Amino acid sequence: MKHEWATLNEQESLKILRRERIMHLAGTTPDGRPLIRPLHYTLVDDDSAVIFHSAPTGEKIEAVGREVVCSVSEHIIDTPSSFTGSGPACKATALYRSVQFRGLLENVVDIAEIRRYLHDLMQTHEPDKGWHLPAEPRGVAILRVKLGEMTGKARLLQNRKAAERESMLVSLWGRGEESDLRAIDAILETNPDTPVPPFLQAPDGCRLLCAPAPAHADQAAILLANRYWTKEDGFTVLRDAQLNCPAWLVAVADDTDELIGTIRAGSDSQRQAWILDLVVADTWRKRGLGSVLMRALLDHPRVRQTGRIGLATRDAQAFCERFGFKRDSVAASGSIRMSLKRRNQ
Ligand SMILES: CC(C)(COP(=O)(O)OP(=O)(O)OC[C@H]1O[C@@H](n2cnc3c(N)ncnc32)[C@H](O)[C@@H]1OP(=O)(O)O)[C@@H](O)C(=O)NCCC(=O)NCCS
Repeated sequence: MKHEWATLNEQESLKILRRERIMHLAGTTPDGRPLIRPLHYTLVDDDSAVIFHSAPTGEKIEAVGREVVCSVSEHIIDTPSSFTGSGPACKATALYRSVQFRGLLENVVDIAEIRRYLHDLMQTHEPDKGWHLPAEPRGVAILRVKLGEMTGKARLLQNRKAAERESMLVSLWGRGEESDLRAIDAILETNPDTPVPPFLQAPDGCRLLCAPAPAHADQAAILLANRYWTKEDGFTVLRDAQLNCPAWLVAVADDTDELIGTIRAGSDSQRQAWILDLVVADTWRKRGLGSVLMRALLDHPRVRQTGRIGLATRDAQAFCERFGFKRDSVAASGSIRMSLKRRNQ
C-alpha cells in the first residue's frame, strides 16, 4: 500500500541518489529474459541521469535500447518491538529510504563523453586514488539512463507519535551500534517535530549529528586546518582522521547545514579513550556549543564506558576542568595533558 507520509519529493530522492553508490538495474534482454544487476553508478549531467560501466559485450549491453527500472535503497536499521514499548505483535520495523526510476538504457559512444563520464564515475568511487584516464578508453562501455518517472519512499517512523520517536532515539543511543547512530540522524532529519533527546540537545540555531557523513569530514578538515596541533597535517590527513575514528560528532547550522563544530575520540570502548580535534567555529563560540559537544562525546556509546579519558590542550584547561578533567603533566610541546578517570586503570 502506498502511504502519502512515506513519499519523498524529487529533491529528497536526488539526495539519496547522490549519497548512495550502488543501484540495482532491472530490464529485459531482446529474447524477453528478465535481467537484474547490482552496479556502481554515479549521477551526472546536473543530476539528470545516472551512468555506470559495463563490459562491451554481455547481457547488460543486450538490454541497451530497452526500458529499464533502477532501484537505489538505504537500509538504515531493523528496530526490535521493544524499542517502541510493549504492544501487539509486531511493532518491529525496518527503517529505510529508497528511490526508483525508469528510463531507456543507452550506450554512450562519443569518446569525449565516455572520458567525461568515466572521470565522474572514478571521482565518485575512488576520489584522488591514483588512477588516470586513458586518451581512448578501451575494453569498457559506458551506459546511461536518464532519470524519468522517479518515485522515492522513506519509512523513518513518520507514522509514529513524536514521543514514541523520542523514546526510540533514546533506545538507539543506548544500544549505540553504528547503524543505530545513523538511524538517529535519519529519524530526526525526516521528522523535525521529534523532541530532541537530552544527549543531542544543542544551542538554538544548530543541531548535533551523531553519524556524520563523508562530506562533513571535508568540512571538518577545513575547520581544523592550521590549529596549533594540526599545523603538520594536510587536508587528506585531517579528513581521513575524522572518517576513521570510532566516535565522532559534529554540529551543523540549521539554516545552512554548514559544519560549525566537531569533536572526536579514539577509543577501545572499555579502558581508554583519547579526545581529539575539538573545535567550534569562531562565530559560534561562547554559546555553549563546545560544552554540548564535549558532553555528548563523553556519553557516546564508544566512550561512555571507558575507565580513563585523556586529552591534551594548550589553552582550554579551564574549559576541560568543567567536565572533570584533571591536569596530569606538561608535554614537551607545552600542551597540558589532562585526564578524566572513571575507574582505576
Ligand atoms: C574550546 C572551544 C571548543 C570552546 O567552544 P565554545 O563553543 O566557545 O564553548 P562553550 O560556549 O561551551 O564554553 C566556552 C565559554 O563560553 C561560556 N559560555 C557558554 N555558554 C555561553 C552563553 N550562552 N553566553 C555566554 N557565554 C557562554 C562558557 O562559560 C565558557 O566560558 P570560558 O570562556 O570562561 O571558558 C572553542 O573555544 C574552540 O574551538 N577553541 C579553539 C580550539 C581549541 O582550543 N580546542 C580545544 C582543545 S581541548
